[in-house]
Amino acid sequence: MVNNVCVLGAGSTKYGKLSQSIIELGLDAAKGAIDSAGITPKDIQAGYISNVFGVADKQVHMAPVLMSNLGIPHVPGLTIESACGSGSVMFREAYANVAAGFYDCVLGVGVEKVTHTGTTLSTTLFSYCSDFFYEGGNGASFPGLFASIARAYLNKYKATEEDLAYVAIKNHENGLLNPKAHIRKSITVDDVLNSPVVASPLKVYDCCPFSDGASAVILCTEEFAKKIGNDYVRVIGSGRGGSPAAVQSREDITTIPSTIIAANQAYKMAGVTPKDIDFAEVHDCFTIAEIIDIEDLGFFKKGTGGVAAREGITKRTGEIPINPSGGLKSKGHPIGATGIGQVVEVYEQFTGKAGERSVKDAEIALTHNFGATGASAAVHVFQKV
Ligand SMILES: CC(C)(COP(=O)(O)OP(=O)(O)OC[C@H]1O[C@@H](n2cnc3c(N)ncnc32)[C@H](O)[C@@H]1OP(=O)(O)O)[C@@H](O)C(=O)NCCC(=O)NCCS
Repeated sequence: MVNNVCVLGAGSTKYGKLSQSIIELGLDAAKGAIDSAGITPKDIQAGYISNVFGVADKQVHMAPVLMSNLGIPHVPGLTIESACGSGSVMFREAYANVAAGFYDCVLGVGVEKVTHTGTTLSTTLFSYCSDFFYEGGNGASFPGLFASIARAYLNKYKATEEDLAYVAIKNHENGLLNPKAHIRKSITVDDVLNSPVVASPLKVYDCCPFSDGASAVILCTEEFAKKIGNDYVRVIGSGRGGSPAAVQSREDITTIPSTIIAANQAYKMAGVTPKDIDFAEVHDCFTIAEIIDIEDLGFFKKGTGGVAAREGITKRTGEIPINPSGGLKSKGHPIGATGIGQVVEVYEQFTGKAGERSVKDAEIALTHNFGATGASAAVHVFQKV
């Protein structure tokens, strides 16, 4: 590696049902990141865009359109798709290009706009991210696939639907402190258990919502960041992994191999262990996913992630805060933006911009984001400077 890589700026739109076009959302987030970095568009040498369903808002080939709107049409842009994990995979590509010395300063924008299509069409579109021949094409939507995973987990570890509920309650509590979160509402165990069943055992409050939104970051060399003189966060570990795409092809569906592979690479590169992580933003598309993630990331032994949520260990003020932003569950899940939104949270936490939801005394943080049921995943480790 030639360069140390930093996040010098970050910006985000609100997440939710939004009226702006996909390009307006991407531009808002990009301008926020550029302003917070203290640079101008002319400093940007390449643009990376993560997006899955641009076609739903009549705009694909989004990178050149965004670059043109920023007044830098000659800057090369690249759009990257990796389902719900698109943001973190894009971050990894942007990171790798800066680390390798191709560029000193690049822009990464994650963006999605789907809510105007309605729940039925969004569910169908999202199912195209599964192994469609085996899964989506036979009616297995993502709530259905994660319901199978949840059922297997509850059976294997004698966990309960209440354990799942505690994940939702905690993430809604955190989201209440996040002005950009999609669903800002305090909920109880009864609210979760009595909410309508989506795919048993998952109920409405076990699911993330469909969201629109955009998040953006400026990645640069540490030398460039020092020259600009603004606060920045160091990226110290990066890993990517894969799993058999169809859930039916996995030996054990209560674990996600891509997470373990990506995390081990990122920990090794950063020279840290799970014990060194002060907080993490993880992929909680459904409550069961957060429980499996925090076990696969090495924070808890297999079968104990639910107990951790129930006992408050993963609360913002707990031993290992998980999803202080509110996570996908409350902050929302605009799928192309989610992985970058996690990095925005780390940047805000480490540069004193997280306000009421600040995690006390945090120095090292991790982001984890996967595509589909974990067919692809990326993990990054960050250090406060
Ligand atoms: C849970 C789900 C079925 C709800 O869909 P829906 O019933 O059509 O919901 P609507 O969009 O009509 O919203 C109705 C209300 O419920 C709320 N709501 C919607 N989804 C919610 C969720 N997941 N959690 C909490 N509240 C939710 C909305 O904010 C809205 O509230 P309001 O009336 O106060 O504005 C849908 O959000 C879903 O399928 N989520 C999973 C998305 C997914 O699979 N993502 C990919 C992950 S891999």
